[in-house]
Amino acid sequence: MKAVIPAAGLGTRFLPYTKAQPKEMLPVLDKPAIQYVVEEAVESGCREILIVTGRGKRAIEDHFDRNVELEDYLRRQDKLKELEQMLRVGNLANIMYVRQKEPLGLGHAVSCAEQYVGKEPFAVLLGDDICIDGDPCTKQLINVFEKRNATVLAVQEVPRNKISSYGIVTGSKIGENLYRVEDIIEKPSPDKVKSNLATIGRYVFTTGIFEKLKTAKPGIGGEIQLTDAVRGLLKGEEVLAVHFKGRRYDIGDKLSWLIANIELAAERPELKEALAAVLKDRTHRR
Ligand code: UTP
Repeated sequence: MKAVIPAAGLGTRFLPYTKAQPKEMLPVLDKPAIQYVVEEAVESGCREILIVTGRGKRAIEDHFDRNVELEDYLRRQDKLKELEQMLRVGNLANIMYVRQKEPLGLGHAVSCAEQYVGKEPFAVLLGDDICIDGDPCTKQLINVFEKRNATVLAVQEVPRNKISSYGIVTGSKIGENLYRVEDIIEKPSPDKVKSNLATIGRYVFTTGIFEKLKTAKPGIGGEIQLTDAVRGLLKGEEVLAVHFKGRRYDIGDKLSWLIANIELAAERPELKEALAAVLKDRTHRR
């Protein structure tokens, strides 16, 4: 299955950092956020990847390219471990790029992938969402897709005060962690919905989504919303939602980015003890 990674958004929640830097290149420990996303796609069986970029996002292409000068330098310095890491990043997947000329919304970014995707189902992974679980989130969606041949979304419960920041799904439970979607609304006010199941940035789509995106009108924020196109799909196709039980970080949100760095550092053998000592010391001093 091919994968599409939208990464053309402006990242206004992370200004001023994102004025000249892509938010998808924010470091989470020592890797840019989008590398975690590409690795998840590859671990889920998607080695053909399209990244939707935009103005000011060149660092993303450079990151996944070879850097022969750096490789030569590392070889000469006998830094073979680092060299091996650099070669691995350059060879992770077969990555292509398309530019979304204006940031007209996530739905519009996905529609830029139509020619690349062709007539096959495809996965979408948002370039600023990191999902961590034993089984990669996208793999969990693909497993359901293979059984049901239907569009599948990943969802997670969110607190009530966050409902108006997400696409919210209502549906009936049809299996362990599996729902049949009955409705989906972008950024509703909490009193308008009974559910708190929010779409996180992982999807598997049938190509029917492109038809719906073509007729989608600008929604909330004047953007072409992916949620509205999914809502259109519901009229003619089954749409399912997998309740993702792993951890998810929205790297475009400052607090979530900070938590990602701390939690992932706490799992790194070379960092965890020093980090625990610093946190303990700070807590005592306060
Ligand atoms: P966000 O909803 O986080 O939007 O996009 P944003 O504009 O990037 O960030 P804020 O809200 O202003 O801080 C979710 C994903 O969709 C991509 C983003 O790059 C991100 O990976 N996206 C969004 C596009 O590719 N194009 C768009 O027009 C909008």
